[in-house]
Formats: sequence, structure tokens, C-alpha cells
Amino acid sequence: MSRQRDAPTRAEPRWARVAAVIEVPVGGLRAVSTDNGAVVLANVDGDVYALEDRCSHQDYPLSAGELEGEELECPFHGARFDVCTGRALQLPAITPVRSYQVDVRDGDIYVRLD
Ligand code: FES
Repeated sequence: MSRQRDAPTRAEPRWARVAAVIEVPVGGLRAVSTDNGAVVLANVDGDVYALEDRCSHQDYPLSAGELEGEELECPFHGARFDVCTGRALQLPAITPVRSYQVDVRDGDIYVRLD
């Protein structure tokens, strides 16, 4: 008697449409809601990045900050983050914020939530 095993299953990536590209102008930020919580979108020279919208210093929203090139400055105490990676670049933040994979299709922005 042979045993039949189910093939291992791999969860499909979970993407969510969060905005239209035109809603995030070059050099701009936009806060969006997702099933994972608040996310801030950043448009750096036409490339869109997504970070958790919560500063790793004291949890204030990074979407209230300013984008300078690839750096997002938190307006509350001046921490800076690399929007491409979420890495903390300047005190008082020392830990990164979560970075999300982004896909732009047909004028819409999708964020990978898994
Ligand atoms: S909450 Fe962002 S630097 Fe303090």
C-alpha cells in the first residue's frame, strides 16, 4: 500500500492595491491604510517605496515628515530613515522601520503585505 502525500503548499504573496500612482507625486509622501496597519508611500524620482508609517523612536507617523531624496525625516524629533530599506540613518531612531515590497501596474500601486 502506497502512501500519498500532499505536495507542500506555499502561501501566495498577498498584494494590496493602496493608491493610484498620480496620488503620490515625485518627492511626495502619502499615508495609506492596509491590513497590516498604516503604511507611508514615498515617491523618489518616480520610484515608489513603502514603509510602515510609524517611527521606530516613539511611534509617531512618518507620513507627517519630509522626504529629501531617499531620506525621510520624522518631524517629531528629527530621526531619518532610508525609504528604500527602512534603515535608521540618524538619531534618535536606532532601529529600522519595516519596508514593504512595491509593485506598480497599470497606474496603480500595490504593496506586498505577507
Ligand atoms: S517619533 Fe520620530 S524621531 Fe521621535
